[in-house]
Amino acid sequence: METKLVKIDPCRVEDFDSELKEAAEIIKRGGLVAFPTETVYGLGANALDPMAASRIYEAKGRPSDNPLIIHIADADDFEKWCICENKKALCALKESFIPGPITVIQKKKSIIPDTVTAGMDTVAVRCPSHPVARRLIELSGVPIAAPSANTSGRPSPTKATHVIEDLMGKVDMIIDGGECDVGLESTIVMLKSDGAVLLRPGGITREELEEKLGEIQVDKAVLNKLGEGEKPLAPGMKYRHYAPRASLIALKGSDTDVLEFMKSVSDDLSVGLICYREDMLCGERVQILGSASDKEEMAHRLFDCLRYFDSMEEIKTVYTRLPDTSSIGLALVNRLIKACGYTVKEL
Ligand code: TXA
Ligand code: MG
Repeated sequence: METKLVKIDPCRVEDFDSELKEAAEIIKRGGLVAFPTETVYGLGANALDPMAASRIYEAKGRPSDNPLIIHIADADDFEKWCICENKKALCALKESFIPGPITVIQKKKSIIPDTVTAGMDTVAVRCPSHPVARRLIELSGVPIAAPSANTSGRPSPTKATHVIEDLMGKVDMIIDGGECDVGLESTIVMLKSDGAVLLRPGGITREELEEKLGEIQVDKAVLNKLGEGEKPLAPGMKYRHYAPRASLIALKGSDTDVLEFMKSVSDDLSVGLICYREDMLCGERVQILGSASDKEEMAHRLFDCLRYFDSMEEIKTVYTRLPDTSSIGLALVNRLIKACGYTVKEL
């Protein structure tokens, strides 16, 4: 399949209406368009068309039991697609975080095809803040089902080049809108009549959510490897995600111990390092995750760091810093331990 590549400046979407109309036409006729959002790039299709949704699973090589998030442009449209059992909580989320990097799971309405929800009786709905995503949804006139625009199992794409690596020739159009702001996928919250559960941490932090909703439950799968027979609330959390080609090992210990260990392996040509700027390590086999005091920067850079080592044949092992779990650190640690397959080296 020929993939059309289009560049759109997110600060001037109004100048790109003809490109976005073309993209919307593709969506309307059942095709696939990869587009930027504030979290990561998404691979979009008409969420009301089961055939179109099934093309997403095919292009990504995604297991059919892993449901898709549907994207809407108007925050007032949530209840068109799902049944709200906790209006107070939904209102609080809308007031503070929507449009933005958060996804809400509620009971689905029957208009949403089973292909999209992988047969579940709930649906995940997100209203993104990214101007390109918003305009594309508006022009399409339908909700857009979109998982992250990567091959299943690979790190999520935060730049158009990542999408090109994974999906060129498999989708109708890729919109290059520059780097994604947040860099990690949206926070996923399930609303129930008696409270809320955090299924996947992201740009909106647990602390921010609790400030608005009161105490929330955190699904065990966020930080723990589940035992045989245990199921995460978000089916996607059970897969080994974000995996780079080399084996990734997270380092846990005091700053001094971690730095000393990284220095001790830094001459090994088969080793890559993901470290903080303050570690003062450099070279081709070193990636800077960000400043030790800036977890937003780390979130923005994480998936690019993980992909970086994939092009280096000689790298067999990558050691990475592991930040603490406060604020967006919970999302960073969740992605890192999954990428490691839960291999953490205690120093
Ligand atoms: O930031 C994001 O959320 C990005 C952008 C493109 O919006 N999308 C994204 O989609 O990360 P994806 O498919 O890569 O991850 C969606 C996660 C999966 O773990 C899936 O299992 C879960 O959401 N999910 C979707 N619908 C669900 C449902 N009804 N119940 C429980 N989990 C659900
Ligand atoms: Mg994904």
